[in-house]
Amino acid sequence: MAIHSLAHLIFLLFTLLTSTIAYTKLSDESLKAIPDPGDTFNIKTGSILSPILQVRVPGTPGAEKVRQHFYSFFSKELPLWKVTLQNSTQSTPLGGAPITFVNVIATRDPPWARVGEVGRLALVAHYDSKLTPEGFIGATDSAAPVAMILHAAKALDKAMTRKWDDMKAKGQTGGLEAEKGVQLILLDGEEAFVNWTDDDSLYGARALAHAWDSSTNPAMSTHRTTLTEISLFLLLDLLGAKNPRMPSYFKTTHWAYKNMATLETRLRSLQSFKSSPNHPSKAPKSTNPKGKGTTRPTREPVWLNEANKNPNLGQFLGGMVQDDHIPFMARGVEVLHFIPSPFPNVWHTANDDGAHLDIPTCEDWAKLVTAFTAEWMDLEGFMRVEGKPAAPAAEMEKSKRDGVELDRRKEEGIISKTEL
Ligand SMILES: *[C@@H]1O[C@H](CO)[C@@H](O)[C@H](O)[C@H]1NC(C)=O
Ligand SMILES: *[C@@H]1O[C@H](CO)[C@@H](O)[C@H](O)[C@H]1NC(C)=O
Ligand SMILES: [Zn+2]
Repeated sequence: MAIHSLAHLIFLLFTLLTSTIAYTKLSDESLKAIPDPGDTFNIKTGSILSPILQVRVPGTPGAEKVRQHFYSFFSKELPLWKVTLQNSTQSTPLGGAPITFVNVIATRDPPWARVGEVGRLALVAHYDSKLTPEGFIGATDSAAPVAMILHAAKALDKAMTRKWDDMKAKGQTGGLEAEKGVQLILLDGEEAFVNWTDDDSLYGARALAHAWDSSTNPAMSTHRTTLTEISLFLLLDLLGAKNPRMPSYFKTTHWAYKNMATLETRLRSLQSFKSSPNHPSKAPKSTNPKGKGTTRPTREPVWLNEANKNPNLGQFLGGMVQDDHIPFMARGVEVLHFIPSPFPNVWHTANDDGAHLDIPTCEDWAKLVTAFTAEWMDLEGFMRVEGKPAAPAAEMEKSKRDGVELDRRKEEGIISKTEL
C-alpha cells in the first residue's frame, strides 16, 4: 500500500512537472484562428502551391525556378527568416557531369538567440522531383508537403513575433523556453536517378546531415553541432491523397505522434477539416424543415490511427520507410515521419500531378502541422486572426490559458487535493 501511494505520488509530480514545462495545448479559439491555405493552394494560380507543381529534377532549370519561388516567398512573406543554402556536388549512376544538389533552409530563432543555444523543430520535405516517368510532377511527392510547411511558417510568423516581444518585455529571455526556434528544411535529391540504393537516393539529406554533424559550435554551447540543434525532425512525404493512414513508426517520438493525433481529433470536432464528410459545407441542403435532425453524421475518418499503440508492449517492431530522415536518424536525431501506409496509388506514376491532389486534404494537413508547431512553440495566447483588431493583451490571455490548463488537469484527475 505504502509503495503504491509513493509510486502514485511520484507519477503525480512527474505529470504536473511535465505538463508545465513541456507543451501547452492550444485553446479552441486559437485552433480556430489558424488560417486556411485557401487560394494559396490553388493548383493553377495558388501563390504557394502552383509554382512548385512543375518538373524540378536536381540540377535542371526547373529546380532553379522552384528555388526562386522559395526565395521570393521568404523575402515577401517571411522577411525575418534567415534563408541559407547547403550545396553539394555529387555524381549519379547516370554518369555525366556531377550534379549540384541545393538544400534550402529557412530558420527563425528568438531575436536574442546566440549560436549553439537554440533547439529547433525542423519541418522537412523534399522539393526535387523524380527523373522518370518523363514529365513527372510529384504532387504528393513532395510538392504538396513543401506547400504545407510553407503555409505553417507563414501562419505562425506573427504569433512568434508577438510571443518573443512579450517575453522580451517581461525579461524572460533565459531558459529553455527562450531557446526554441523553427526551421524549414527543403531537401534536394531525395529521389533515385536509376534504382533506389544507399548511394542512389537521399543526395541532399546525406550531404546536409554530414555537413551539420561536422559543424561544431563554440565550446560550452548547449548544442555541440548544428545537427544537435534539431529537437525534432518532422518529415512529411507523400501527402495530399484522400484518407491517408498514418502509422506511428518510432517509439521515441510516439509522444509527439500522440500530440498530433489529439490535434487531429480536436480540429475534426471543431469542424475545421475541409476534407471531413461532416464539414458544414457538406450539410445536406434540406428544403423540408421537418427533415432536419434525421440525418446522422457520417463516421469521421481518422488519419493518425495509431495513437493507442503501446510502446511498452513491443508494438514498434514493424518496419520503417526509407526516406530523408535516415542519415539524420543514424546520427541520433529524433524523427517523426509522416508518410502514409499504403502509399497513395498515384505514387511514382504520371498521375501524381496537381489534378490528382485532394486539395481539402492538403489544406487540412497544413492546418494540422501549423497547430502542432504552434503548440511546440507555446503560442497559446498569441494566436489571432490576422487583420482583426487586437485581441486582449497577452497577460489576460495568459491567465485564461492557466484557467484552461487548470480545468484540463481537473478533468484528467491529476490535481491533488491540497492544490484545490
Ligand atoms: C549553391 O548553389 C546555388 C545554385 O546553383 C547557387 O546559386 C548558390 O550560390 C550556391 N551557394 C553556395 C553557398 O555555394
Ligand atoms: C532497376 O530495377 C529494375 C527492377 O527491379 C531492374 O529490372 C533493372 O535491371 C534495375 N536497373 C539497374 C540499372 O540496376
Ligand atoms: Zn518519390
